[in-house]
Amino acid sequence: MTIKEIYNLAIQMGIKADFRGEEGIKKFLENKKKKYEKMDEKEREEFDKDALENPYLDSRIYHITEDKEIKKVLVGIDIGPAEILMAKEIDDIDLVIAHHPVGKGLAHLADVMDLQCDVLNFYGVPINIAEGLMKERIDEVARGVNSVNHQRTVDAAQLLKMSLMNSHTPCDNLAAKFLKDLVEEKKPERIGELVDLLKEIPEYKEAMKIGAGPKIFVGALENRCGKIALTEITGGTEGSPKLFEKMAQAGIGTVIGMHISEEHKKEAENSHINVVIAGHISSDSLGVNLFLDELEKKGIDIVPCSGLIRISRV
Ligand SMILES: [Fe+2]
Repeated sequence: MTIKEIYNLAIQMGIKADFRGEEGIKKFLENKKKKYEKMDEKEREEFDKDALENPYLDSRIYHITEDKEIKKVLVGIDIGPAEILMAKEIDDIDLVIAHHPVGKGLAHLADVMDLQCDVLNFYGVPINIAEGLMKERIDEVARGVNSVNHQRTVDAAQLLKMSLMNSHTPCDNLAAKFLKDLVEEKKPERIGELVDLLKEIPEYKEAMKIGAGPKIFVGALENRCGKIALTEITGGTEGSPKLFEKMAQAGIGTVIGMHISEEHKKEAENSHINVVIAGHISSDSLGVNLFLDELEKKGIDIVPCSGLIRISRV
């Protein structure tokens, strides 16, 4: 596979697992196209044209050293200049794949957060409320990533002639779909059963060995789960804390998340929503692994690094 083929596969897998469905994604892209068509020349110049075809602007190809058949990849959750150097030290690495975005993928992180409105709506939160509350949070995230040194890792890749890409939301979509299917199949009644179910997943089992396994942040083992929502797995980063009250009103009893801030935890407590935190890097690993399995099937050699718990389901 070439880098472009690997990248396109990630995007296609992300679309297939997306809460919005293929139809929803089509509408999302059409909406972007309509906006683009209304722009004047100056606005069009500034517009990121990738947005017309790629629904996940937090996932990009940053550098292609040589457009060749990829045989061996170095894959990590966070890739910085150190990992690019490592790729140079390890024999025959053709491409580095990051999970978390860098460069312009990171600068566009807020763009994928629209997805959360649809996820919340899927679980019963009226779309107007989800959109209203997410709007301010999306703006906040956009301002937050504005100050970082976006190109640091991309510069390292260019200087050392190492190809670099990332897949963020497509992989998080795969993790969310995996967990949603599991919960719908096993229907855990109490929080204890839900935690036990998560602990059977190899990535979480591995994380438990270093004390980073699934944990109850709000609620107790014997609490009943009620409606379980996967609202905190995909869609960029944490949503608005004000959403917990609305989620409770929509009948959500338990949220499974990757991570949660103190402010969000307090709001969940106030709304009597149980929160089970599956784990950040382990959940990221789960999604990345489901994508990497497809590369492994194509004969690509995978070297995990930077926290990635590589579990093959091939
Ligand atoms: Fe993450």
